[in-house]
Amino acid sequence: MASGNGSNFEALVQACRCGSMPAEVVLLLVNNPGCPAQARAARLAIPCTLVDHRGFASREALDAALVAALGAAQVDLVVMAGWMRVVTAHLIAAYPERLVNIHPSLLPSFRGLDGVGQALAAGVTLAGCTAHLVSEQVDAGLILAQAAVPVLASDDRESLAARILAQEHQILPLAVMLAAQRLGLPSG
Ligand code: GRF
Repeated sequence: MASGNGSNFEALVQACRCGSMPAEVVLLLVNNPGCPAQARAARLAIPCTLVDHRGFASREALDAALVAALGAAQVDLVVMAGWMRVVTAHLIAAYPERLVNIHPSLLPSFRGLDGVGQALAAGVTLAGCTAHLVSEQVDAGLILAQAAVPVLASDDRESLAARILAQEHQILPLAVMLAAQRLGLPSG
């Protein structure tokens, strides 16, 4: 599931294709028409479904449509790879322990929006990213993997976000494999 650029989605596809992750990405769900993630899916020949949140009256209604699309694709595990909508119990309960999120901070620090900006504002010297299972409390589920990066004196939001994103691409496939292992899913 992606809302914007989709670089984490592509990192997962590449990890499967190069053999470092014994899995298959069978579907991309996007909520923003025309987002770059959609174009990546087309280039990578991954089926992509648009579920535009603007067409739904509530978060629950949106999540019901997501669950239907995921069910039709018979997925074992779902990754929120830059999914910028808060999800509800409806989606979480459909994929218990099977819903992974990537967040650009070292949780439990800097939950919610703009983890990178929050880290800069706090003046920390180490920042990073966290891949975790999704629970109903935002950015608070079981931590699967983390990576830390230095914050340089010269950093602005863009430079720090880029350094963190490169690490997201490393830990997200690892976290997916750990989540699959916890569930006893076949490992390829
Ligand atoms: C990442 O920083 C992720 O942690 C956050 O949104 C960004 C998505 O990047 N939730 P991309 O769309 O995967 O390139």
